[in-house]
Amino acid sequence: MKSHFTVYRYYHKVDQKQCYQEYVVDAEPTDKILDCLNKIRLEQDATLAFRYSCAHGICGSDALMINGRIELACQKLVRDFKTGNNFVIEPLPLFDVVKDLIVDLQPFFEKYRQVQPYLIAGKNDSDKEFIQSSENQEFIEPALRCILCASCTAACPVNRARPDYFGPAALLRAFRYIFDSRDSITEARLDKIDNADGVWGCKTMWWCTEVCPKEIPITKCLGQIKRAVKEKEKGD
Ligand code: FES
Repeated sequence: MKSHFTVYRYYHKVDQKQCYQEYVVDAEPTDKILDCLNKIRLEQDATLAFRYSCAHGICGSDALMINGRIELACQKLVRDFKTGNNFVIEPLPLFDVVKDLIVDLQPFFEKYRQVQPYLIAGKNDSDKEFIQSSENQEFIEPALRCILCASCTAACPVNRARPDYFGPAALLRAFRYIFDSRDSITEARLDKIDNADGVWGCKTMWWCTEVCPKEIPITKCLGQIKRAVKEKEKGD
């Protein structure tokens, strides 16, 4: 089956022009979009640049716009689209394009690092492990599924209007530690994001939840952080 791919191209080191290039790929309905991009690169155009690693929805490196919607190229099959055999492939919005379908995720990871994305456990006087209840683990479990693909942040309209907004992915990671019973700096974590660039930047538009390839209820998690901030203020 012949499939037509219209692919965004741009490389600032060659010229400043963006364009779309057409490719025809022999694709099976069960081929992943990533397989098709690989066929283009291997058989037709070695200059086409895109990222991927695991090809199984784990590494989060191949988030793209496919027919106007943010998707992981390795999780979508040719037959998943109602556009026949026509595909428009573009880079993630919001971020600067480095080359073709590769965007600069440096700003994304800078914000991620600002929320201290690691457990800071308190002192444990006994020689036993810190035990986490299964209820607590279940509560934070949705956030553990995040693969940092940046789809949510790219989709968020607040991020486009407010570049300093932490964004849903960083806030989701904050959620993961704020509600982890073993973490010892919950108050400091809440203080850090109790502002308009933090959790109050979220306008509950649900776009992040809509595009998340891991079906994480991101907006709901951010709502739980908002409630925790309010509870903390009541206690102060
Ligand atoms: S290539 Fe790893 S998530 Fe798609």
